Amino acid sequence: MHDRIAPADLPARLDALAAAVRARTDLVPGIGIVLGSGLGGLAAALEAPLAIPFSDLPGWPPASAPGHAGRLLLGHLAGVPVVLLQGRLHVYEGHDPGLVVQPVLLMGRLGAGTILLTNAAGGVNAAWPAGTLMAIADHLNLTGLNPLIGPNADLLGPRFPDLTDAWSPRLRALLHEAAADADVVLEEGVYAGLLGPNYETPAEVRMLRALGADAVGLSTVLEAIAARWAGLELAGVSLVTNPGAGVTGVPLSHEEVLVAANEAGPRFERLVRRWIALVGAA
Ligand code: HPA
Repeated sequence: MHDRIAPADLPARLDALAAAVRARTDLVPGIGIVLGSGLGGLAAALEAPLAIPFSDLPGWPPASAPGHAGRLLLGHLAGVPVVLLQGRLHVYEGHDPGLVVQPVLLMGRLGAGTILLTNAAGGVNAAWPAGTLMAIADHLNLTGLNPLIGPNADLLGPRFPDLTDAWSPRLRALLHEAAADADVVLEEGVYAGLLGPNYETPAEVRMLRALGADAVGLSTVLEAIAARWAGLELAGVSLVTNPGAGVTGVPLSHEEVLVAANEAGPRFERLVRRWIALVGAA
């Protein structure tokens, strides 16, 4: 890994990124959405989209995770101006935590006061079948990392951010309202974020259950911390693509994750579209 990116380095990086976006569009998004593995279908539904490839964004690495195209997209969904990240960055790719959270902070900088983080996840809650959608009510940051280590940028956020209600109860209530409207079943639970890239051992999945997790994945928690630091209102949806390791005894594969994500794609899109409309009207 290269030099660490500290919070104090972010203002200059965000200035350059915002300038690169503003050279292409003056659209001001109200909502920023990070699309998880296999959940990129929403991008195709974007109205009047402008796509900015990662290679056009200064200080931004190419996306490398399979199933992730690397683009920032601006346009409208359900009549609401939005910015979408297709191809999130993960620490397991070798990226610094400060780089991983840059997209969410850029979304905020462009005007999005509301952030929706989505992901594919393994099921820790044994009652949930593959395909379950879960509103994130809280998280466990088990990465051992933090994007806020190093000199702070007090103009962006406080040294010691509060994470009580990090996952906005207001936005979560709107997720449940959207689920009812769109006729989609939506559970709610705690997301545990690990580093990966290996999937968990069965003992780790049992440990996570004992710790109160309902789903486990390899993203989201660092972005959530940075979003709250920057004062952005936060919501999240996990798609449980598979029972966690050891729950059924069947080995896990990335292909299985993508197949389940594709199957759930239309349901996920209905939920998010309706939610966007509700957030936009609120
Ligand atoms: N574990 C971690 N991340 C995941 C999983 C899993 O079982 N499934 C999809 N993403």
